[in-house]
Amino acid sequence: MARLGVFDLSVRYGKVPALMDVSLHLDEGERLFVAGPNGAGKSSLLKAISGAVPTTHGRIEMDGELLSGRAPENIARLGLSMVPEGREIFGTLSVEENLRVGTGIRRDYQAIAEDMQEIYQSFPVLHERRHTSAGDLSGGQQQMLAIGRALMTNPKLLMVDEPSLGLAPNIVDQVYDTLIALQKARGLTLLIVEQSSVRAARVGGRMVVLRGGKVVATGDAGEFAESDLLNEAYFGQSKAPSGAETHR
Ligand SMILES: Nc1ncnc2c1ncn2[C@@H]1O[C@H](COP(=O)(O)OP(=O)(O)O)[C@@H](O)[C@H]1O
Ligand SMILES: [Mg+2]
Repeated sequence: MARLGVFDLSVRYGKVPALMDVSLHLDEGERLFVAGPNGAGKSSLLKAISGAVPTTHGRIEMDGELLSGRAPENIARLGLSMVPEGREIFGTLSVEENLRVGTGIRRDYQAIAEDMQEIYQSFPVLHERRHTSAGDLSGGQQQMLAIGRALMTNPKLLMVDEPSLGLAPNIVDQVYDTLIALQKARGLTLLIVEQSSVRAARVGGRMVVLRGGKVVATGDAGEFAESDLLNEAYFGQSKAPSGAETHR
């Protein structure tokens, strides 16, 4: 399990600001959803935490260790892994080859084989199709593969960027069932980008809403689904929330 702290984080691409003074935290074993419209900075937040894009201001800590300024592979070695938006599967490689991609940073070669077996136990369909080209898998299976690949670095904290993207609702159910089961079994801390507040409420957890690179609301995912709070956060209308807290 891992604790994550993000303090006054800013990210810009040249002159384009993507995140401005974003702060959030995750306790050990907790689940946090990040919601917000397209271009809000959700992916930039995950990329900054994993070291894939540089931060211009602020700091990121996991279990008291400073992550900001470290190379992505060093951050991964500390126990943080990300499932990128759009999954980024290597379509011409086999399922098993895709699972091995993430293990380049590891030195414990024997444990890698054991972890592969564990992942095949969690995802029997990946075992069945281990020699198939990943490009021939269904969208749901590719999402499972992307999650399995992220787990091959044995993370304590897993970040998943829009796992629902392009999947039918019943497949999304399966993906979330798997994520929750993995969280329980491995004691994972989970940070999930999810557009649907209804989905987030059903799965349960805390939620942070980003808009224009800023945190505009935080609260329990259930409260967002029940109230107009998410609409207010998305569109910037001001109305006092009942349970959750908005920031302007
Ligand atoms: N590689 C990039 N170069 C320039 N601008 C980018 C890049 N990636 C994202 N942006 C911009 O940063 C902002 C946040 O994008 P992103 O983090 O992808 O948002 P989200 O994931 O919430 O849709 C947007 O204005 C987007 O156009
Ligand atoms: Mg995104």
